[in-house]
Formats: sequence, structure tokens, C-alpha cells
Amino acid sequence: AIYGPTRGNSQGLNINVADQRLPLQQQVAGFYKQRWQACPIVNGSAMETGTALPVRAPQDRAIQVGSLFEADSETVAQAIQGAQQAFPRWNGTPVKERSAALERAADLLETHRAELIALCQLEAGKTLQDAIDEVREAVDFCRYYAVQARQLFGTPVTLDGPTGETNELYLQGRGVFVCISPWNFPLAIFTGQVMAALVAGNCVLAKPAEQTSLIAARAVTLFHQAGIPGEVLQLVPGEGRRIGPLLTAHAGITGVAFTGSTETAWQINRSLAARNAPIATLVAETGGQNAMIVDSTALPEQVIQDVVASAFTSAGQRCSALRVLFVQEDVADRILDLLRGAMAELTVGDPCHLESDVGPVIDEAARRTLQQHISEMRQQARLIAETPLPPDGEAGCFVAPVAFEIKRMDQLDREHFGPVLHVIRFKAAGLDEVISQINQAGYGLTLGIHSRNETTSRYIESRVRVGNVYINRNQIGAVVGVQPFGGLGLSGTGPKAGGPHYLLRFATERTRTINS
Ligand code: NAD
Ligand code: ALA
Repeated sequence: AIYGPTRGNSQGLNINVADQRLPLQQQVAGFYKQRWQACPIVNGSAMETGTALPVRAPQDRAIQVGSLFEADSETVAQAIQGAQQAFPRWNGTPVKERSAALERAADLLETHRAELIALCQLEAGKTLQDAIDEVREAVDFCRYYAVQARQLFGTPVTLDGPTGETNELYLQGRGVFVCISPWNFPLAIFTGQVMAALVAGNCVLAKPAEQTSLIAARAVTLFHQAGIPGEVLQLVPGEGRRIGPLLTAHAGITGVAFTGSTETAWQINRSLAARNAPIATLVAETGGQNAMIVDSTALPEQVIQDVVASAFTSAGQRCSALRVLFVQEDVADRILDLLRGAMAELTVGDPCHLESDVGPVIDEAARRTLQQHISEMRQQARLIAETPLPPDGEAGCFVAPVAFEIKRMDQLDREHFGPVLHVIRFKAAGLDEVISQINQAGYGLTLGIHSRNETTSRYIESRVRVGNVYINRNQIGAVVGVQPFGGLGLSGTGPKAGGPHYLLRFATERTRTINS
């Protein structure tokens, strides 16, 4: 009852204050030895399909966190059929009931916060702060979309028309949505997509990233407990390349909410287009090649704090993360000196240890891909700084933060999803060329600007095509309802997650005209 429409985002805590942190830390540690299981949950029943695959902690591959049973073509077909049958009833359920289910889900996420934090740390390698933020964002998505849905779907819009006629416009669900999510926000993005689709009246087939299926399965169990029927929300975990096409090629799918790489978004788009079926909606939130521009009026200490946070938080595994830092020549040496000092202070290590600032990357494949890029950079670019790896880090997928100076942004052919920062010097007269390099990369997610000159920041902002601009602060951690998040170009289709227009894309509009 306390979670009314006026309630704001979830409460955080300051982990630097022992009194605030310790009780939670103790509860979280109580789950470190627990083991979890993920399997398809179809029409409300957990199905142990095929062989159990071990799920290992990225910080120590010897730790088996749980097991994954992947969906197969038969379970996928059953799930789609169940969702299609459930759609008319769920779509006809009053929105206030659907919103109430989301609010109960938010409460349950909070009740199980300690377990979910432990799971995020063990399965996704998240630090304590990242894991706390992850649960909070998931909770915030549920409550925010619940409120938005009541406003948008609750009362039809009455339209002016000729005398004797009533005209109304109202929103309904589209049908069956597939929600395909990435591993880097295994609870928050998973929950945000699923809840937006559900509250708009759709049934959902949720396909989480294979690397983080345990978190998704635990969340789905809680969402069912919150009163979302098993036929309305189905879980079909498994490897994307295999399960994804089974879902996106199916004629019964009316929409896909996807967050992940640009390459996968293209594949999904092609798969949807190849169907002999009504045109499906695609909401795609994809990668970024995010830049920050620092001019000579910026405050160096603040710049460094924000650069380190933007580039290396979550081991650089955020779509919003800073990849290319443009520094004005006049202040570049000073900024790079400070950056060296700050990077030397970072600690890479087990994310369950409080002193670790940077945890592992998600898996061995990600580590190898990043190491390949780092080796190439060592040949082609100038090393600025490198944080040491943990001495006992051999068992885990660690990549230490590293910064290289390069000449131009087009030396980077694509997004490198990890703690690798690229720095480019520019002359004041070359600002337009910087802007042009950023735009030519074709992405459009986040942009950081550090300048005390308002004319300069306005000039840059008005010319760089991105979805989220951050001025004189870091460029990560968009907050639900505060910084609606999402990009354009190669970074996605929009609308913005956590924003007031997001739910509209999950709905169809109907106009009703009554001659009275
Ligand atoms: P990915 O594209 O490899 O996988 C994302 C999801 O797609 C996973 O669930 C995967 O199993 C599935 N998938 C893979 N192949 C598929 C196919 N052929 N058909 C259907 N589904 C398929 O991405 P990732 O490595 O999990 O995540 C990292 C990427 O996500 C980065 O590029 C990052 O920038 C991006 N990302 C974007 C946002 C955003 O809001 N813009 C947020 C987080 C992450
Ligand atoms: N919403 C996430 C962030 O802003 C991706 O970092």
C-alpha cells in the first residue's frame, strides 16, 4: 500500500559508512555458498531440458555458481503457444491490476535484495556497489513503469468531433513480445524490458543472456510470485545464436525488445523481416563508441574522477562507458599525469572483496577479445597507464584498466567492451574536427563534456548526435525517470528506457468512434 503512484526511486546506501554497509554485507555473504539453477519456465512449470551446463563465476572459474538447462525448440514452441493463448486475457486485465503486479514484484526484489546482490556478484562479477545499483534499478523500473502505465493506459484520451459522436483514443498491448537482454545489466535491463512489455498488456518470452541466466531465472520466480501468471511471462534461457532465431523467426511474435550488440540487433532485424507475418516492432538498444571532450577550462581533478568512473566502473562493461577521451592539447600533459596517478590507485580483484574497484570481465571469451585489442594497441598506440592485475588473478577473467594515446577515432573499428580507454589530443582550433570524428563513428549513445565555458559546451552539444549528454560529470549510471536512457544511429532505435515515452512503443493505439 505504501507504493503509491507518488513514490520515487528506491533508497540507496553509502557503502563507505560501515553502519550502513555491514548489515547488508553480512546478509549478502550468507548467500555466497548457495547454488542456483536456471531452466525454461514454461506455462508456469520449470522444465529440466537436456543436460545441465555448469555456470561459473567470472572471478574464479573453479567456483560453480549453479547450472543452466537450456530451452530447446519444443519448449520454445510451447512457450509461444502458451503466451499467445494468454494474451487476450492479460491485455483485458485492468491496467491498475497489471501495475499492482509490477509494484509487488518491486517489493519482492527488495525483500530478496541480499540474495540478488550475491548472485550478481557471483554470476556477473559485479562489485558490491554495482550489485546494489543493479537491484535498485530493477526496482525503479518496476515502480516507474507501473506509474506510467496507469497514466497512459488508464483513461482513454477524449477527442473533439462532430456533435452526436464520441471519439476516444486508447492504448492496448501488441501481443507476444520477446525480450532479449545482455549480461552486463542482468537484473536491471532484464526486468526493465520484461516489465515494460507486461504492463502494456503484452505476454512475454524472456531470453536472458546465456552468461547470466541464473539471475534471470530467480527474478522470473519472484515475478510469478508477485502474481504475473506463468503463461503471461515465460522464460526461455539458452545460447542466443541458437534460441534467438527460434524466437525471432516465429510468425506469432509481434515485437522484440532487444538490448545487446549492434551486430545482434542487425541479425534480429533480418530475422523479423524474413518472416511471412505482420511487421513486428523492434526496440533495439545497442552499443556505443562514447566520447568525452575536455577543454582547457575544465577542472582537472574533477575530470580525472569522472574519466575513471566513466571508463572503468563495471570493468568498462557498460554501453554508456567512456571509450575515447578527447583532451585539449594545452592541458593534456597535466590531465594524463593525473590519470596515471588515479589508475595506479585502482584495485582489480574479486568483486566480493570490498577493496576491489574493478572486477572481472564476464567470461574467458571477453577476456581474450579484449587482450587481442590491447596487444594491437601496444603495437599501434602509446601506452599511457595500466593498472596492475591481481597477483592471484590467474583463475579469473581479469583485464586491468589500461589507457592508450591514439591519433584518430577511426583507428577504432568498433566498440571494445571493457576497461580500455583511448585518448586523443586536440588543438582548440580543431574542435569541429573532433565533433566530426565522433559523428562519423556512427554510434550515438553517451557524450561527456568537461568545460567551464558554457558557449563551448552548448556548441559541442548542439553538434554531436547522441542520446545522452553529460556536462561536467561522469557519463554512466543513468537513473530511471531522471535520465531516460538510450541512443540513436548504431546505438539503437529508441525510445528511451526509464523515460515517459518508453511504454508507447510496446502498445498499439485504437480509436473508438461512437455515433450516439
Ligand atoms: P550480445 O548481442 O552478444 O547478446 C545480447 C543478447 O542477444 C543475449 O541474450 C544473447 O544471447 C542474444 N543473442 C545473441 N545472438 C542472437 C541472435 N542471433 N538472435 C537473437 N538473440 C541473440 O550482447 P552482449 O555481449 O550480451 O552485451 C553487450 C552489448 O550490449 C554491448 O554492445 C553493449 O554496448 C550493449 N548494451 C547496450 C545497452 C543500451 O542500453 N544501449 C545496454 C547494455 C548493453
Ligand atoms: N543505463 C546504464 C548507464 O547509464 C547503461 O550506465
